Amino acid sequence: GGLVLCLFLSCQQVARQVDTPVLSTKPFKMNEVVITKGPFKHAEEKEATYLLELEPDRFLSGFRSEAGLVPKAPKYEGWESLGVAGQTLGHYMSACAMYYATSGDERFLQKLEYIINELDSCQQANGNGYLAATPGGKKIFAEVSAGNIYSQGFDLNGGWVPLYVMHKVLAGLIDAYQYARSEQALRIAEKLADWMYGTFYHLTEDQMQKVLACEFGGMNEALANLYAYTKNDKFLLLAQRFDNHKAIMDSLAIGVDDLEGKHANTQVPKMIGAARLYELTGSKRDSSIASFFWHTVVDNHSYVNGGNSDGEHFGTPRKLNERLSTSNTETCNTYNMLKLTRHLFSWQSLPEYSAYYERAVFNHILASQNPDDGMCTYYTPLISGGKKGYLSPFQSFCCCSGSGMENHVKYGDFIYSEGSDSSLFVNLFIPSRLTWTARDLIVTQDTDIPSSNKTVLTVKTEMPQSVVFRLRYPEWAESMSLKVNGKSVSLKASGNNYVSIEREWKDNDKLEITFGIKFYTVAMPDNEKRVGLFYGPVLLAGELGQEEPDMEKDIPVLVNNNKPVSEWLKKVSDSPLRFETKGVGEPKDVSLIPFYAMHHQHYVVYWDLFTTEEWKDMQEAYKNELKRLQDLDKLTVDYVVLGEMQPERDHNLRGKDIGTGISHRKKWRAAWIGGWFEFDMKVLPDVPQDLRVTYWGDETAHLEFDIYVDGKVLARQHLYRNKPGQFFEAVYPLPEDFWKDKEKITIRFKGVPGNWTGAVYNARVAK
Ligand code: AHR
Ligand code: ZN
Repeated sequence: GGLVLCLFLSCQQVARQVDTPVLSTKPFKMNEVVITKGPFKHAEEKEATYLLELEPDRFLSGFRSEAGLVPKAPKYEGWESLGVAGQTLGHYMSACAMYYATSGDERFLQKLEYIINELDSCQQANGNGYLAATPGGKKIFAEVSAGNIYSQGFDLNGGWVPLYVMHKVLAGLIDAYQYARSEQALRIAEKLADWMYGTFYHLTEDQMQKVLACEFGGMNEALANLYAYTKNDKFLLLAQRFDNHKAIMDSLAIGVDDLEGKHANTQVPKMIGAARLYELTGSKRDSSIASFFWHTVVDNHSYVNGGNSDGEHFGTPRKLNERLSTSNTETCNTYNMLKLTRHLFSWQSLPEYSAYYERAVFNHILASQNPDDGMCTYYTPLISGGKKGYLSPFQSFCCCSGSGMENHVKYGDFIYSEGSDSSLFVNLFIPSRLTWTARDLIVTQDTDIPSSNKTVLTVKTEMPQSVVFRLRYPEWAESMSLKVNGKSVSLKASGNNYVSIEREWKDNDKLEITFGIKFYTVAMPDNEKRVGLFYGPVLLAGELGQEEPDMEKDIPVLVNNNKPVSEWLKKVSDSPLRFETKGVGEPKDVSLIPFYAMHHQHYVVYWDLFTTEEWKDMQEAYKNELKRLQDLDKLTVDYVVLGEMQPERDHNLRGKDIGTGISHRKKWRAAWIGGWFEFDMKVLPDVPQDLRVTYWGDETAHLEFDIYVDGKVLARQHLYRNKPGQFFEAVYPLPEDFWKDKEKITIRFKGVPGNWTGAVYNARVAK
């Protein structure tokens, strides 16, 4: 009897495992969670320093001038000086409000209050609730309100996404209320939304659909939030009109992934709005749209870093292998996907949501910030040989500068959640402190996972209290063990789930969790032999150094002969975290570090795996291609690699609205809508010749453009899946009067109206 009693007591003293039902949850407030150390803390500090350096008057400049007031400072450069002016201010307000909430630092409140006062003056000067920096915005909205609506996709009546920008202002004001309790901000937001109601609500359904065709951010979300705070039905009604974008929502509502070719970040915020409307109205249509979208983006359109999109667009579902480029994974998209994930987890505490959140926050969001100066990426390239590029602090404001301001000051957002039964979900292993106000309990989490394999939670409570801790047993752990105050707790559990334990927690109780951290690979959905390498939550990337590699020759591959990753990838150092391949790298083994820590050098994220045989065949194919090019070289009169600096200079490249990048391991040049580029090429004065141009044969959007020689049209080219999965060379015979008695011709590429040119990889004049 004594023994049984003693076992019973010692069991009781430790903790007991209880069931883990799927629950609804709620996030903790911004001011209840702080990050205490490690790379996330570092990122937060860098961001906060940057926020303080920014000058509100420069963001406010356009708001004042559009309201007829004299600006107090010139506009910032970049987007802030263009048609999309005003887009950064809302994010800046949100970021200051959030950081004020977590840090209590009054300097951020002062910035915020200053902006709110200024916006108040601008709104009063406008007189009718209107508030925007969009150049000529008053005229644009007057036309729209009168039912005269036109758009070519990214404009509304010629204005550059004015509703997308207005959404951000509204969201910034609402965040100022939510996180910094500014009643004044809420009043400004209400007046602006009243103005919106007057401008849009009377439009017919057809007219409204035309408005919605132009990117409008998460206007449905902001208006729904405003309704939640004010209970003003007008805002709900207007939110629902913005929610009903049929061209996007109807297919999602019936579970069809129709996202191919669609602009990615235009859609994600709408889904957050749908999620919010479901929460406020119970609309099943909204919940199924939001949840189907999340699953389809995560399963069919996301890369290993948790990001999505190539050149800002979605492609064919589950076809990502050929969509690696310098234009992958725009940061805003993931900023928005995380918000959506947070909503879905609040409906159902499923581990897939926390697994996605973790992957994206470690491997895209944290990876997007330069740890030296806090500047963020717009795209995060995933092509082998790629390198991160960062926006500049004061010159190049673009969409991702704005979302970037928020990203790094809200890392506390999803580490913990409160279950509907008042249990504590521990979702992420990030060093932090939770002040659980409702229960008068503090939990600190001390960890440096995955440098070590442990996390320690310490409880502070005045009175002992019974709490269920629901601890995430991540999919990347092959084992999980628990100790309370040094004593083991026996567990029945398996990975990719939550493990629940209950105990009467006393002050200073320590809960220690130890994981067996796995190495594993995550393959492309359409190529199981192209994989990302992971250690625990962290995506690893191979270091290629600072010198630009030759994309076709210098990219290492892994000849692993189908052996599992644990046999050929080894950890060589904990701090800094560093790994090496052993005996599989070609031409030599590679050193890897977490992708989030990869900065200022070229890298490999996706690895091609081979058997020895396959690798020999590849080398053979490579030699054959070289031979083909050498033969072609004998016939070549002139050749230019586009997107490459020296060849472009040698050929005197010039143009308007042009861009460049790398896709499928080759550089390209393109001209955007309305733009063109041209360059000079040698010709022989007396021999028939062709112009040959290389394009990617798997463009998934229809592109049409004209090619001119010395001002005369040579050909019209249409690109759309011309040769799936491969490059192709289009051959344009040059008519005699194009080369006769000439030594040089000028070749120009220009999209037909409403089109960009598509990526042009190289051009050759050949006999
Ligand atoms: O058009 C506004 C924003 O700019 C989009 O959401 C983003 O993808 C783009 O770069
Ligand atoms: Zn962006």
